[in-house]
Amino acid sequence: MIVTPKIRGFICTTAHPEGCAANVQSQIDYVKSKPALSAPPKKVLVIGASTGYGLASRIVPAFGGGAATIGVFFEKPGVENKTGSAGWYNSVAFEESAAKEGLYAKSFNGDAFSGEIKDEVIAAIKADLGQIDCIVYSLASPRRTDPTDGETYKSVLKPIGAPYTQKNINTDTGEVNCISIEPASDDEIAHTVKVMGGEDWELWIKALADAGVLADNFKTVAYSYIGPDLTYQIYTNGTIGRAKEHLEESAARMNTQFGDATAYVSVNKALVTQASSAIPVVPLYISLLYKVMKEQDLHEGTIEQIERLFTDHLASGGTPTVDERGRIRIDDWEMSEPVQKAVAEAWEKVTTENLSDLSDFSGYKKEFLRLFGFGLEGVDYEKDTKTEKPLPSLS
Ligand code: NAI
Repeated sequence: MIVTPKIRGFICTTAHPEGCAANVQSQIDYVKSKPALSAPPKKVLVIGASTGYGLASRIVPAFGGGAATIGVFFEKPGVENKTGSAGWYNSVAFEESAAKEGLYAKSFNGDAFSGEIKDEVIAAIKADLGQIDCIVYSLASPRRTDPTDGETYKSVLKPIGAPYTQKNINTDTGEVNCISIEPASDDEIAHTVKVMGGEDWELWIKALADAGVLADNFKTVAYSYIGPDLTYQIYTNGTIGRAKEHLEESAARMNTQFGDATAYVSVNKALVTQASSAIPVVPLYISLLYKVMKEQDLHEGTIEQIERLFTDHLASGGTPTVDERGRIRIDDWEMSEPVQKAVAEAWEKVTTENLSDLSDFSGYKKEFLRLFGFGLEGVDYEKDTKTEKPLPSLS
């Protein structure tokens, strides 16, 4: 069928198989254009491996260090006349490219929060790899069913303590307006921590340790965000920030149990992904940020960020450089003074009328479409494409 984008608010309900493959290939090409990692992990598990930061975290050790990878994600396969989700096609493309290079790649499509998926992954590690030496936890999910009590928790993106009023953008129309969000209840805060905090990350590491499939000196990393003052109330000081605090507490607990320099939280840059486009205010901030960082020649996407994470920190052969709270900071360029000063100045002035001058909203929209495989060079979008694509390791 001919696949075209169908956008509903902050999601696109279609994805283009060849476009997603081209997107994955461009990330692989980027990694191959860089020097090989000097001390790469060799057997890597990525939880949340099909899109955004997790996909990049699978590509970098595989194509930059020859690692065997296991990927876990929750995606929809395509069927005849109905497209699957982008993460499905990304994973198909990843596995096909890995196979061409003789790299082991196995994928699990299901609920990472469940006990079943953990058991299946452990069985695959035992059968195929013996042990793993790196676990990347890159889940972004709106809900989680806790396997211990069967209860489903939902995360919310709300401020804590007081309402938050800020400029915002309607990404459909390009209208700059104002949004007011009421503060979260205590229950909403607790539920968001349940979903996006570190509890499940710890459960994964515990399950892997109990099964004896963690190599000595294994490392694990999960991703966080901090950002500037203007998103502080909705992010760092909001419900999601509470969950990220819990993630840091989880890292500290795992370091006590397994030894220092085992578990890290990496604070990453704000980027267009399926998860970030759902956060109020953030798309306008990202549009301004992209313009400033492109002008200052500092712009990075997920693959550049994660390549730097492995090269400078996780696979450098030394100990990662961390801030005063033990976090790796690959948001350093975003948070640098010249970048933040320029973004803050533009933020004060931005309106619907001057949006295209002051921001890179057109770049934001292009990148959003690329997440779903649209707008990639070299892809013939007029051509019939097969939407049913099996994932090699699952077929
Ligand atoms: P994303 O939406 O691109 O990726 C989420 C991944 O989680 C996908 O692979 C999806 O299949 C998987 N997933 C979701 N629910 C699942 C479930 N129940 N079982 C199995 N897999 C599931 O998200 P993104 O933006 O890459 O986020 C990943 C992490 O990075 C999050 O912790 C996020 O807070 C963090 N981060 C994101 C930033 C951004 O600007 N996008 C900035 C800094 C940190």
